[in-house]
Amino acid sequence: MKLLAISGSLRKNSYNTLLLKAAAEHVNQDASVELFDLADIPFYNGDVDGDTKPVAVQALLDAIRHADGLLIATPEYNYSIPGVLKNALDWASRPAFNSVLRGKPTGIMSASMSTLGGARAQIHLRDVLAATLTPFYLAPDFALATSHQAFDDKGRLVDQGTRDFLQNYMAGFTQWVASQQVTSR
Ligand SMILES: Cc1cc2nc3c(=O)[nH]c(=O)nc-3n(C[C@H](O)[C@H](O)[C@H](O)COP(=O)(O)O)c2cc1C
Repeated sequence: MKLLAISGSLRKNSYNTLLLKAAAEHVNQDASVELFDLADIPFYNGDVDGDTKPVAVQALLDAIRHADGLLIATPEYNYSIPGVLKNALDWASRPAFNSVLRGKPTGIMSASMSTLGGARAQIHLRDVLAATLTPFYLAPDFALATSHQAFDDKGRLVDQGTRDFLQNYMAGFTQWVASQQVTSR
């Protein structure tokens, strides 16, 4: 199983990116997790969204197309998802209702320094995914609260309970991805 991990943060020391790297270490041997960096994705512009796409956008579309599932970790910016992530999903969402996102099983995570762990951003992300016909894993939720205290200086999750929960989440998520009929193009 090939999973594509997308962080909604471009920050080098992003907690969301660290969370995805931790998730990659908590999947069983049948699954691999590749991280896609959104840094080179330009702002969506319908004038350049033709048969030929900007190079970074085409790379994103190809990576999504070839993945069995997506794993998105989003920061919460002003109670929503960052523009960086929304922009990437907007590119990936075309043609409407028939894009690479359609039918692509997707897990949603978040990490935030607040005690809510970015839960409000997850709600908005669910709405965006619904608009793109992207099925998302419903439960359990994975929201990493007080993320600035969650990792050691090597980027590893310090709390055993959190690592166990992540292990269970990834087991359930990958099982669900395997059960999905992928209908995207
Ligand atoms: C513009 C902006 C808005 C933010 N708004 C929220 C917010 O509404 N809720 C929240 O929990 N954290 C908010 N934060 C804090 C981020 O969750 C925090 O910076 C987090 O570490 C970003 O994720 P990252 O470490 O993956 O870059 C905001 C940060 C920025 C830069």
